Amino acid sequence: MVGRFVSAIDMKLKLFVILAIPVGYFTVAFGADAATSLCSTPWFSICSMPDGTTPPHAVDISGKAIPDSSATQPDKPIILAKDSKDENWGEMKPEVPFDHTKHTTDVKYTIDGKTVNTCVECHHTAQPSAPKGQEYLKKFTRSEILTAKQLETSKEPVQSCRTCHFQESTEAADGYPPASVTYPKSTGKPRTGKLININAYHVNCIVCHKAAIKRDPQLKAPTGCNECHTEK
Ligand code: HEC
Ligand code: HEC
Ligand code: HEC
Ligand code: HEC
Repeated sequence: MVGRFVSAIDMKLKLFVILAIPVGYFTVAFGADAATSLCSTPWFSICSMPDGTTPPHAVDISGKAIPDSSATQPDKPIILAKDSKDENWGEMKPEVPFDHTKHTTDVKYTIDGKTVNTCVECHHTAQPSAPKGQEYLKKFTRSEILTAKQLETSKEPVQSCRTCHFQESTEAADGYPPASVTYPKSTGKPRTGKLININAYHVNCIVCHKAAIKRDPQLKAPTGCNECHTEK
């Protein structure tokens, strides 16, 4: 049941390792541009790595890149959207802070204020099947539901959102980025639109922040553009 997609990524990674050596040579011999243009020629299109990996889209506050997949939870706050190519930022920074530890251990960081967020609330593919009421979810990559303990014992890596939710400028591949999701009418939630990074993260982060503030207006859950993409 482990999706074909994962094995396609594995394949790409293997091929990348094989190709990294000659490409590395080209980088040294002819500069980074030569390596980039080599990768863009049809027979080297395999060079494409998961979106947001080179350069990394996310680093922790010590500057360490968040890899495209890993079995270690980020223990320091993360800065997302490091690789934004959007030119319309004006006085704002594209970078977005995100504290993984607080969002996974503190009940204040939840919709109901009582139960700590489950991992699959965000890592929605890291479970064997769709939870009740979320039948619109179809893609699953893990035979057991991800929890802190399951990660600890299985050591099975968790994929970055950007492995699937590409940036707008990244070429589509194997059905990714995912097409728009339509929620049941009863939820009142609008369709997501094509699930490039901006829509996937915005829906995940902002929908919860708005619901949490509705419960407790005192909460400091950012919903305005310049609260996440802070001013320069
Ligand atoms: C809750 C925090 C949050 C809020 C509020 C928010 N964003 Fe974002 N935004 C993000 C995150 C997270 C990403 C994706 C990060 C990544 O891909 O690494 C993102 C991505 C984007 C991108 C794509 C960046 C790129 O080039 O890949 C744009 C453009 C953007 N946001 C604009 C906006 C605008 C305009 C608003 C207000 C209407 C807004 N955002 C509100 C968190 C937020
Ligand atoms: C399931 C709900 C939920 C999700 C999903 C969520 N957040 Fe939050 N977040 C909260 C709540 C609630 C707060 C306010 C906590 C408080 O006021 O003590 C918060 C606070 C924050 C803050 C304020 C600073 C801080 O750390 O307290 C930032 C920045 C933030 N979130 C970014 C994000 C980003 C980026 C995403 C998406 C990758 C995200 N959040 C996803 C619930 C959520
Ligand atoms: C509020 C949303 C949210 C919750 C809840 C959450 N995560 Fe995450 N997690 C993220 C985001 C966002 C990233 C950064 C991924 C990226 O690069 O875009 C991340 C990254 C990770 C990574 C590193 C993956 C990599 O690409 O290197 C691991 C491992 C991880 N999470 C495990 C967990 C586990 C285990 C839980 C439950 C205890 C959990 N997460 C709960 C949002 C969340
Ligand atoms: C293995 C690929 C993959 C990964 C990794 C992934 N997604 Fe998705 N995502 C999808 C697909 C495919 C869909 C469309 C629904 C389906 O087919 O399950 C989707 C749908 C969504 C949706 C709309 C449906 C909903 O649940 O509201 C959001 C929001 C979303 N993803 C956010 C995220 C975030 C945030 C992360 C990282 C914490 C992430 N995704 C990681 C593949 C992925």
